[in-house]
Amino acid sequence: MKRILLSLALIFSTITMQAKTLVVYYSYTNNVHNIVTELTKLIDADVVRIEPMEKGLDYAANNYAIGSALISAIRNNPYDAASYPAIDPVNVNLADYDCIIIGAPLWWSNMAAPLQTYLFHNGAAMAGKKIGLIVSSASSGISGVEGDAKRLIPDGDFLSPSLWIRSSQTSNASSMLNSWLKTIGYYAMTGVEDISADQNIGKYTIFSVSGAMVAKDALSLQNLEKGLYIVNGEKIYLK
Ligand SMILES: Cc1cc2nc3c(=O)[nH]c(=O)nc-3n(C[C@H](O)[C@H](O)[C@H](O)COP(=O)(O)O)c2cc1C
Repeated sequence: MKRILLSLALIFSTITMQAKTLVVYYSYTNNVHNIVTELTKLIDADVVRIEPMEKGLDYAANNYAIGSALISAIRNNPYDAASYPAIDPVNVNLADYDCIIIGAPLWWSNMAAPLQTYLFHNGAAMAGKKIGLIVSSASSGISGVEGDAKRLIPDGDFLSPSLWIRSSQTSNASSMLNSWLKTIGYYAMTGVEDISADQNIGKYTIFSVSGAMVAKDALSLQNLEKGLYIVNGEKIYLK
């Protein structure tokens, strides 16, 4: 018993790395929004949602005419700022982050236009950072969206593979996100330790990543849902 407690104390005290993550996304019909909501239950991250400056546009009307025109303009002239639709100002200091996860809807094989606008103006400031890409589309897979991300963030350190979540799988996003985070080495990179529910944790107060108290003086992890928690000031991933 004492040995288990000691080794857990050691695990907690060796988790010191404090990589900071930003999630940047755009969402027209809220699929990516729902994916990002699930993602933030698994990881500790700041979140920014890109919004087009022109409100109320129906990108899907007339067989996606507006969305299609926006994508064509970018395809025809990708290095001209005038090709990109205006977006609301985004107040975030990219220098604060080590890792950026991009949540992108696919439009006609490409990254949704408003998100491309943000990356066109800010991709250079993401040089050297870890970049993860999550793509939502009805059936087309990731297609050209990864190519767009790499064009717009030429010196990003891309985490591989990117994750495709089909629109119809949005409600199952949590388990897909969890295995993707493991595959790209995200938990290891951010210093989060996996522990299983049958491990004895001693007597700790457990918080969610958003700071809400989940259990006071807990002696067991058995009743907790899998996910990310803060125990003794350190992050643990309960698998
Ligand atoms: C303008 C536009 C074009 C789209 N083109 C495609 C496409 O070519 N292939 C595809 O599978 N889905 C396409 N979609 C569907 C979206 O990729 C899909 O619904 C996605 O889940 C939307 O994410 P969101 O709800 O976060 O906006 C398109 C959607 C829009 C609005």
